[in-house]
Amino acid sequence: MKIKTLSQTILAAGLAFGISSAANAAEKKLMTGASASMLANTCAGCHGTDGASNGPGTPTISGLSVDYFIETMQGFKSGEIPSTIMVRIAKGYSDAEFKAMATHFGKMKFVHAKQTFNKKLAKKGAKIHDKYCEKCHADGGNNKEDDSGVLAGQWTPYLKWTLNDYINFVKDGEGAKREPVKKMKKRLKKMLKKKGQEGVDALLNFYASQQ
Ligand code: HEC
Ligand code: HEC
Repeated sequence: MKIKTLSQTILAAGLAFGISSAANAAEKKLMTGASASMLANTCAGCHGTDGASNGPGTPTISGLSVDYFIETMQGFKSGEIPSTIMVRIAKGYSDAEFKAMATHFGKMKFVHAKQTFNKKLAKKGAKIHDKYCEKCHADGGNNKEDDSGVLAGQWTPYLKWTLNDYINFVKDGEGAKREPVKKMKKRLKKMLKKKGQEGVDALLNFYASQQ
């Protein structure tokens, strides 16, 4: 067995205790009918106060639909949705807590990120969106009722990264990628065939242009 220094042992024990006791406290609070905002405070460091992220690699999580929010958290937890950080965070919570957080953030407004974009590409992107994406990401990617996330005004670096996970799946079909729903896969494939990488860039500029 590897011998740890005393400080390492204390640190490891402290971390383990800190995480499990925080989760236990949250669980107890929830069981006693208490506050979702307490759970949400844990998220503020990265996702900003009220879920409006200062970005750009971290998505805004306010104003999403409750179903989308819960399914995404479950996907992070199971590893089905690839992530850098959320897999570890999501593991600390129960379905009831996901629901409490989803309801809490769902009541807030989705704040569109202020970011730079290319006007010409954004115009092209609007057309591409209408043709290939609007069906399930209505109102130019603003509509949360589709339970498919919010694309309009989301941070570009995050969107680029998450869209790439789907594209890699469409291209390779396996691995640590994100599997799109069947029809999105079809549309995305078609879009890539017709418009290529410029189509992807145009879409991202279109979403960024909505501020
Ligand atoms: C240390 C930073 C950090 C903390 C803390 C954090 N997140 Fe995240 N979150 C991220 C990052 C980065 C992503 C993008 C996925 C990834 O790489 O993990 C993300 C993605 C998400 C998404 C997906 C958004 C979408 O549109 O699909 C949701 C929902 C989410 N986080 C909820 C939460 C909740 C709820 C908490 C608090 C319990 C939380 N996050 C705490 C960094 C963080
Ligand atoms: C048949 C419906 C459908 C179509 C068409 C569709 N999507 Fe989606 N999309 C979804 C659903 C449902 C989700 C929610 C997550 C999941 O199930 O993978 C989603 C999620 C996403 C996400 C992740 C959002 C986030 O915050 O992480 C992106 C990005 C995305 N879609 C982009 C697109 C683009 C770009 C197009 C057009 C080329 C498109 N989608 C077409 C249904 C669709």
